[in-house]
Amino acid sequence: MKETIEFNHISNIKGELDLPGDKSISHRAVMMASLAEGKSIIKNLAGGEDVLSTINCFIQLGIEIKKKEDAYLIQGKGFKGLKKPSRSLDTQNSGTLTRLLTGILSAQNFESTITGDKSLSARPMKRILVPLTLMGAKITASPDSTLPIKIYPSEGLGPINYELPVASAQVKGAVLFAGLHLAGTSSVIEKLPSRNHTELMLNLKTEIKDDNKISYVSKENYPQPKEYYVPSDISTAVFFIILALLTKNSELLIKDITLNPTRTGIIEILKKMGGRIEVINEKVSSGEFFGDLLIRSSKLQNIKIDESIIPNIIDEIPALSIAGIFAEGDFEIRNVKELRFKETDRIHAVCENLRLTGLNVEEFEDGFKLSGKIRNNNLQFNSYDDHRIAMSFGILSSLLKDGGKVNKFKSVKISNPQFLNQLGEISNG
Ligand code: S3P
Repeated sequence: MKETIEFNHISNIKGELDLPGDKSISHRAVMMASLAEGKSIIKNLAGGEDVLSTINCFIQLGIEIKKKEDAYLIQGKGFKGLKKPSRSLDTQNSGTLTRLLTGILSAQNFESTITGDKSLSARPMKRILVPLTLMGAKITASPDSTLPIKIYPSEGLGPINYELPVASAQVKGAVLFAGLHLAGTSSVIEKLPSRNHTELMLNLKTEIKDDNKISYVSKENYPQPKEYYVPSDISTAVFFIILALLTKNSELLIKDITLNPTRTGIIEILKKMGGRIEVINEKVSSGEFFGDLLIRSSKLQNIKIDESIIPNIIDEIPALSIAGIFAEGDFEIRNVKELRFKETDRIHAVCENLRLTGLNVEEFEDGFKLSGKIRNNNLQFNSYDDHRIAMSFGILSSLLKDGGKVNKFKSVKISNPQFLNQLGEISNG
């Protein structure tokens, strides 16, 4: 792929899309299948580099993983069946892999080291080191609590009752995966619930107490081999949804998309903004809801975005801000400081790129506000090597009357290497 991609103006979207499997569910399916004893099959696994990193790490940990036609076959090794890797495990760009894997490795009887790429090596790991260390795990990291992480054998590991200080499915997952190896019950308490794929896949008991969500885990929940079907990724679909909403006379069908209620906040918000999005053909597989989305051109207006929905839409916010530019009224989002700790500082990336357009951009520590009109043309945006920033500004470029450019676009390979082909399939000039 070229370093900089040029997008022409797109005036209309028509057609149907089949998108790759959900990245969050895919990571976890590979992990569950590797831990279970026996053969699991995973269909529609995400094809991006993040999930390939997960596959490579588990191969290094002694698991046999093969691709056969459209499915992955995984021969899991059972309770504490992972083997000591012969070199460090490279989790590349993936925060989810790093954090969940640290939870798993904290409960093993061997030493291991996790390294990552430049972006991941700058991301905070203290958030997992704190609860895992409280459980008795022996982990060291760089002085600023970043990668590389070194994990030592787990002799003293014990259960924990942990209240998450930030809404994070990755931190929750790290604790749950470590707790999965213990006879005693651990619990994780969340004030604002984050995505619940780990809980669903492990069949965990959960309850709501005093407005908090509590998830319980122990060895009793250890996974068995099974067949997984991964619904397609709503966080990948969002770019095409917004493009279809904002172009004239458009109609787009996106098949078999995740409709897990902890992930559909973006549909809820876009509908409240006036988006014509219909959910049809609802199905369920292993507790995960999915279905088709029919999207039609719409007139949008900006709305107030409540803090409670933020964990549910955290990955969709850069794309949502593009919809916000074309919606009536000013777009404002707050309580999203977590965006500063993603593959890049996404508040900074969105604000810097949008300043190029001539919009008024107010940046806050925990969000941003956009007002005014796009006044400039011949724009070249920076992807900051972040897949979701690249795709967000790819769709913005396609919506501009003279098109636009995005540099370092190859970062899309992290979640959707086929983005440009899919865009080509559904777009008319
Ligand atoms: C993910 C959780 C979210 C999300 C990330 C995937 C997961 O991160 O941003 O892309 O699969 O658990 P946090 O849990 O850190 O918010």
